[in-house]
Amino acid sequence: MQAEIEQLENRFREELAGVDGERALEELRVRYLGRKGVLAGLFQALGKADPDQRPAMGKAIHAFKQVVEGGLAARKAELGARAEESLPAGFDPSLPGRRPLRGRRHVLSSVLEEIIDIFRGMGFSVAEGPEVETDYYNFQALNFPANHPSRDSQDTFYVDDEVLLRTHTSPVQVRYMESHPAPVRIVAPGRVYRNEAVDASHAAEFFQLEGLYVDEGVTMGDLKTTLRQFAREFFGPQAALRFRPHFFPFTEPSAEADVLCFGCGGEGCRICGGTGWIELLGAGMVHPNVFRAVGYDPERVTGFAFGIGIERMAMQRYGIEDIRLFLENDVRFLSQF
Ligand code: PHE
Repeated sequence: MQAEIEQLENRFREELAGVDGERALEELRVRYLGRKGVLAGLFQALGKADPDQRPAMGKAIHAFKQVVEGGLAARKAELGARAEESLPAGFDPSLPGRRPLRGRRHVLSSVLEEIIDIFRGMGFSVAEGPEVETDYYNFQALNFPANHPSRDSQDTFYVDDEVLLRTHTSPVQVRYMESHPAPVRIVAPGRVYRNEAVDASHAAEFFQLEGLYVDEGVTMGDLKTTLRQFAREFFGPQAALRFRPHFFPFTEPSAEADVLCFGCGGEGCRICGGTGWIELLGAGMVHPNVFRAVGYDPERVTGFAFGIGIERMAMQRYGIEDIRLFLENDVRFLSQF
């Protein structure tokens, strides 16, 4: 027994010398002093030993236990001293840590999500299309003929003569109808691009949400009701929407919808350019030529489409006066939402 304990003690000393940190030290402690550790085993053996051997054996075990406890304590102090030496001067480990910056969803993402949710509630599902588009989907299939002046309102960035950055989400209408039969009820969110002179209300890249509803017997009344309902849910029951006649090649008739300006409530101010209203979206009844381009029969189905400017919605909702703020990545701005 004595010899065995001596062996254990030598092993312990070796292991203790090899300990290189708090964690290893704690593991060693558990291994020797834990409930199922080496010492517990020895005490158990002691209980079963010959009565006349017990006193000597007990003494030896206790002595070993003291060696273990003393060794662990000394090593612990050593390790602590070493850790403190390696701290930079003036570092106070008792101070609370610096809080890591918590990220959040971008205001445009959360506004977009909210808008999508409203349309989901009305039975629309979500479709997407590419940001790098072809001239065919962005213009021709939407009834913009080549070299037609209607293209001037949507100049963009060209990869080559055929490939460009999409100027609106309307090409998703075409792609979706090409691959799905009517009835269709989708919204298509995404980033769009224009060659704009950038100012407080115009950006060269921004977000839209396209809507498309095609079935037999869909009317302009359905369009207005859907958009009014949407404006009420997004801005609140007091939201005032007005429709103005407009022109888009891919809808006929076409309209633009405005909301009452958040800056002046309709009086006219700098934000709304003195008109009292802020333009939010374009809309209209899908042009028969678009139906023909995707293989739908314009004698059988009708439909409405709209394109909502997401930045405008966020600006109106939160009173943001400059569209450039969205993409500057200034945390002081972004953390407000
Ligand atoms: N695509 C148009 C734009 O970006 C908006 C629009 C969409 C108008 C759908 C009518 C129908 O200006």
